[in-house]
Amino acid sequence: MKYLLQSIGALSAVLLQPISAHYMFSRLVVDGVVTRNFKYVRNTDYETYPDASPYDRMAPYETYNQAMIETTNMTCGKNAFNYAQYTSTATVQAGSKLGFRTQGSDVISGEIWHEGPAQIYMTRAPDGVALEEFTGWDSDWFKVAYWGPLTETKWYTEDKEELIFDLPATTPPGKYLLRVEHWMPLPGSYSQWYINCAHINVVGPGGGNPQQFGTVKFPGSYQFTHPGITLPPDVMDTTDHTFHGSTSFLNLTGYTPPGPQVWRGE
Ligand SMILES: *[C@@H]1O[C@H](CO)[C@@H](O)[C@H](O)[C@H]1NC(C)=O
Ligand SMILES: *[C@@H]1O[C@H](CO)[C@@H](O)[C@H](O)[C@H]1NC(C)=O
Repeated sequence: MKYLLQSIGALSAVLLQPISAHYMFSRLVVDGVVTRNFKYVRNTDYETYPDASPYDRMAPYETYNQAMIETTNMTCGKNAFNYAQYTSTATVQAGSKLGFRTQGSDVISGEIWHEGPAQIYMTRAPDGVALEEFTGWDSDWFKVAYWGPLTETKWYTEDKEELIFDLPATTPPGKYLLRVEHWMPLPGSYSQWYINCAHINVVGPGGGNPQQFGTVKFPGSYQFTHPGITLPPDVMDTTDHTFHGSTSFLNLTGYTPPGPQVWRGE
């Protein structure tokens, strides 16, 4: 019996390994060109305990309460500002197709494997402040992209490897942090956040007013109890979660994400 249990344990470990998948948005994509891991994206801290599997090392930022939503880990990922000085700035023409590509752990391909929404925000560094020294902590962020539900029970992001949007041609020129966030809501008011920031220098004629729909601060604006973050029981079955290919999303019609409306160049 003991032998049998051990075999079952070993078997589930083998079966679970390739399908357990964490990932990071570590590659900036500009007009179809995929850039190197963490060349233009701020790296983040990982779990460092000695026996961590690749899966564990890529653990995202996990939040269980409002206090955890209010840390600077929500700005660009876990302790990301420590890596700002090692991040290059990509020059991006306003009007480009812009976004992020995922990178997985050693054992999996790296697509967006956990289920939930995704959004992209931007904030401009004050004149004379280099992105390498810009935390973004007290800055005003406007939203430039959102991917919500695909159907009543599925999210658009599921199994995607890239999140690409149109950077408006009227984006005011300047140096920006480009911040992607994707999260998996889980039962028990718990969320896993996948957040990364790229350094970009936008060039172009400008003319748009990206703050007109409102802005948010990271940290500072998101509320743990927002129904777009902690999903209510009529939207998500809070007693069960299978992490992928999930049946726990009951009815995503009417889902509203946190944050302002997406700015599209007006
Ligand atoms: C960021 O997250 C890490 C790991 O979860 C934690 O050790 C650290 O204290 C957090 N930073 C802040 C500013 O709360
Ligand atoms: C989901 O909710 C919408 C309204 O919010 C409703 O029209 C629709 O019938 C619901 N679908 C199911 C399967 O309950």
